[in-house]
Amino acid sequence: MSVAKEGPKKITTHVLSEMKMKGEKIAMLTAYDYSMAKLVDKAGLDVVLVGDSAANVMAGWETTLPITLDQMIYHAASVVRGVKRAMVVADLPFGSYQGNSKEAVASAIRMMKESGADALKLEGGKEIVESIERILSAGIPVMGHLGLTPQSIHKFGTYSVRAKQEEEANKLVEDAHLLEKAGAFAIVLEKIPAKLAEKVAKELTIPVIGIGAGGGVDGQVLVVHDMLGINQEFSPRFLRRYHNLYAEIVGAVGNYIEDVKSSDFPNEREQY
Ligand code: KIV
Repeated sequence: MSVAKEGPKKITTHVLSEMKMKGEKIAMLTAYDYSMAKLVDKAGLDVVLVGDSAANVMAGWETTLPITLDQMIYHAASVVRGVKRAMVVADLPFGSYQGNSKEAVASAIRMMKESGADALKLEGGKEIVESIERILSAGIPVMGHLGLTPQSIHKFGTYSVRAKQEEEANKLVEDAHLLEKAGAFAIVLEKIPAKLAEKVAKELTIPVIGIGAGGGVDGQVLVVHDMLGINQEFSPRFLRRYHNLYAEIVGAVGNYIEDVKSSDFPNEREQY
């Protein structure tokens, strides 16, 4: 028996599928903590991604590889507590699903049980289809991720645009169809030529969400710290900055330091 809860209509895989059919674009951003999750949900975001980019943004690692399943569960559970309407998708981290499909389904079940996320995202195509099928058969919705897949950075060697050559482009299209056939409810395409991404979005019936993949797809995703300008060290061509929170925060903290040092803070109204 389900328990009815008051609140805005929750975004589900079914809603996202309808959005694609109606040509309504899907807006997705990352979040890794309760406070940011509350803000992006309040703004009306459709999907919150608890990305393993938390390894970079929250923990300062060079790559996404070091983050563990326990750490991702912590981030995802924090986000879930802040979200009422958006769909919460959590990344399965490197090393938690690549070994075999049994390990993959065990990691997936842990993430769903312990975080309360609505769905999971896994990187890769043909190589992980068996794992995706097992996760789906446990009743867990899966989002795919093709193109630049940061968990494979040591195989690629660089973060440059993927699938520019015909052979890699053909494999990507094939993988996208395999993921759809396996039952993935959506796919992220990262840093690939816009024409290729548009072709995939046209051929698939499930939503295709791009990052550095042009405007011909069904939605967009960015890392929230990049688009808000909190992180200034990362400036790829595809990134649009909507704010310069770096300057705002450094400025505000500078003002606070000045006020403390000059004994301006706290004043009489700011004490008991
Ligand atoms: O981890 C992440 O933030 C992601 C997005 C870049 C799609 O996977």
